[in-house]
Amino acid sequence: MMGAAVLAASCLVAVPACRAAGNIEAGREKAQLCANCHGAAGISAIAGVPTLAGNLDAFLQWQMVFYRSERRKNPVMGAIANLLSDEDVRNLGAYYASLPPDTRPLPPDPKPDLATRGSEVAQEHRCANCHTDEFTGKQGAARLARQREEYVVKSLTDYRSGQRPSTGVAAMTEAASGLHDDDIAALAHYLAMLP
Ligand code: HEC
Ligand code: HEC
Repeated sequence: MMGAAVLAASCLVAVPACRAAGNIEAGREKAQLCANCHGAAGISAIAGVPTLAGNLDAFLQWQMVFYRSERRKNPVMGAIANLLSDEDVRNLGAYYASLPPDTRPLPPDPKPDLATRGSEVAQEHRCANCHTDEFTGKQGAARLARQREEYVVKSLTDYRSGQRPSTGVAAMTEAASGLHDDDIAALAHYLAMLP
């Protein structure tokens, strides 16, 4: 139900790949191309590679389409996205969204003060307005809870510099524009430590 609602919402703003919901089994098959980097269960163990498991169908589809059109520039993902048809994009979005997010117990936080600071910065900048209070994401606004720390630093830095354009209304370009490097480090740590 939730997936259908999200997809319907994204159809309003015309995701090119957006028609019917994808086929999870076909997505699982295609994801053999992705597992070396993104992990067999969609949970990345590699620095710089995001975890995909449990992220939102609409968000994931957008990113594949952005890489394919080179609106979001990355040599590795650009080459891979070029191999994907619209149907593959739908199926892969459905598949990765269906996988359970990372819930393995975390070791004790080595930097609890940094996490507290990150939580304050998130409140000051109202990040939860779009990403939800638990940071599990909503519609095109990514799931952030438990995302890899160094990857979130890169994402926020890329939005801030304009290297990574945001969807439609430039939500993230605006949200990241006022962030200092220290804020970004604190936010990334806070989000990576969320359950
Ligand atoms: C060789 C390693 C590699 C392979 C194989 C690979 N990816 Fe990626 N993927 C990456 C890296 C690195 C990034 C982050 C790039 C950046 O910073 O923009 C990424 C980013 C993504 C993102 C953006 C996620 C987000 O949170 O913004 C999606 C979606 C994605 N990949 C899907 C896939 C799919 C689907 C496949 C298989 C068809 C795949 N990738 C195969 C390395 C890989
Ligand atoms: C007005 C709504 C809005 C606000 C406020 C907002 N975001 Fe976002 N965020 C989005 C959307 C939409 C996306 C997906 C953009 C895209 O397609 O690249 C996103 C994507 C992201 C990503 C990329 C995740 C990934 O896996 O690639 C990060 C990190 C992020 N947001 C962090 C934040 C932080 C930290 C704040 C507060 C400083 C914030 N956001 C505030 C809407 C918002």
